[in-house]
Amino acid sequence: MTDIGLIVGSCEAGRSGCAHGLAYAERIDCGLCGYTGSVELSPDKLAAAERYKLLIGCIVPRPIAFVSTISPDGRSANLAPFSFFNGVGSNPMTLLFCPANKADGSEKDTLRNCKPLSEGGTGEFVVNVSIDRYARQVAAASEPLEYGESEFELTGLTTAPSRVVKPPRVAESPVAFECETVQVVRTNPGAPAGGNIVIGRVVHVFVRDDLINERYHIDAAKLDAVGRMGGIGYCRTRDRFEMPFGRAAIEAEIG
Ligand SMILES: Cc1cc2nc3c(=O)[nH]c(=O)nc-3n(C[C@H](O)[C@H](O)[C@H](O)COP(=O)(O)O)c2cc1C
Repeated sequence: MTDIGLIVGSCEAGRSGCAHGLAYAERIDCGLCGYTGSVELSPDKLAAAERYKLLIGCIVPRPIAFVSTISPDGRSANLAPFSFFNGVGSNPMTLLFCPANKADGSEKDTLRNCKPLSEGGTGEFVVNVSIDRYARQVAAASEPLEYGESEFELTGLTTAPSRVVKPPRVAESPVAFECETVQVVRTNPGAPAGGNIVIGRVVHVFVRDDLINERYHIDAAKLDAVGRMGGIGYCRTRDRFEMPFGRAAIEAEIG
């Protein structure tokens, strides 16, 4: 940890700028003045790897898009997990995920494949869900294979034809969102770890029939999704609770 990223605050005893050492451990529990305040950090003074650890450790749990794409020549199907992932809006039905640049600043295979036609890609991808039953395969698919080598072979997961787009969906996945790429927003093109936001319009939805009812509610227990925490940590979605929206939540009984 680079201590230069720390901003010195004031300790609980009111000692402004408690600076009894800049080491991380001392800042959060100062043996001299009892400082147990917060650690404040200036992102531009941290290394990218440190900023990354803060993002993935604090933004939790994250859903994991298991993204299948196909190379523009149609020869190889690619599969990779991305936990910088979420929905954007329902009108039109839109989602996003974020494949960062590789250490040499180049694009990951998924981005290479799914970027718009005008940028040399196919303009299409499929978001499959990450579930407990094949969690190992989700992690395994992050193996950095050579471009053109398929993670479907590596993981033993099976391709199934999509309905509208060319990339296949994962046959074992109980949900698949077939997407057309609307836009790629690049936050630092060509730079190592630079972010890329892939915005996709959902053009077809596949849901296994036992998961969905006539009101389009999804059975979370049957879905059994997994999420990503910091480092190599994951979580299951089996500890759930319900509460109403808004003011009613203050008084509601929560199990
Ligand atoms: C659970 C999980 C989530 C991940 N999330 C992301 C992510 O959001 N963004 C990213 O750039 N890489 C992420 N990775 C790493 C990529 O999956 C990895 O770089 C992969 O090799 C990319 O594959 P590709 O080059 O075939 O696109 C994640 C890995 C795992 C195991």
